[in-house]
Amino acid sequence: MRRTLIAGNWKMNGSLSANAALLAGIKAGAGKARSCELLVCAPFPYLAQCQGELAGTAIAWGAQDVSEHASGAYTGNVAAAMLREFGCAYVIVGHSERRTYQGESSEMVAKKAARALQAGLIPIICVGETLEERQAAQTDAVVGKQLDAVLEALNDEEVGRMVVAYEPLWAIGTGVTATPDMAQAVHAMLRAKIAARSAAAADRVKILYGGSMKPDNAAQLLAMPDIDGGLIGGASLKAEDFLAIASASA
Ligand code: 13P
Repeated sequence: MRRTLIAGNWKMNGSLSANAALLAGIKAGAGKARSCELLVCAPFPYLAQCQGELAGTAIAWGAQDVSEHASGAYTGNVAAAMLREFGCAYVIVGHSERRTYQGESSEMVAKKAARALQAGLIPIICVGETLEERQAAQTDAVVGKQLDAVLEALNDEEVGRMVVAYEPLWAIGTGVTATPDMAQAVHAMLRAKIAARSAAAADRVKILYGGSMKPDNAAQLLAMPDIDGGLIGGASLKAEDFLAIASASA
């Protein structure tokens, strides 16, 4: 059985005081969401704050990006080993906002995932199609290619440790969510691809859904057999909503 993972992607939001209130709220209510694993992915400067607030709790924390390099002259980049020093268990890689605004290719995303795994971090590898691609019936081809680049860069053991997040771009921050059936179809396709590589890994790998997941649509999405959790943007900034989504997974 794959344990449900409810992950918050704070994106470029927060402040020391706002985070303190948010983390206090999540900590206070986390007991009710014990059946799933909770994770917050914060901006780099707040990882120390997350470590201070969350160490010793059941709530994990992580980052939103990592360098594909181990160390060296890469101004502005952050290494996987540095994230480990701040207690990160996870790191998001290849979010569509980075693919779009920072020009990250699937090959770069794959290198980042490999680097994260080598350092003992679990990468949450994001894939997803645009509205135009969906309307042109290219969803499986686009999303499948994004996953293939990662599968090529990892060995079987590493494949078994990754997490995948399916985030259709047209559902991110729009209030429009994929229907449970639409999401399930893509998740099943992704799992079949992983199974073609390693059946054991396919059984183990969590595939999260992301894109306007909210308290009122989470239960239906999370009830689908291949949806193992959520990667939540906007609703992860309110403790009440984040916890309501986690409760919906029970
Ligand atoms: P929203 O939940 O705000 O649509 O964001 C989804 C997302 O991009 C999570 O990574």
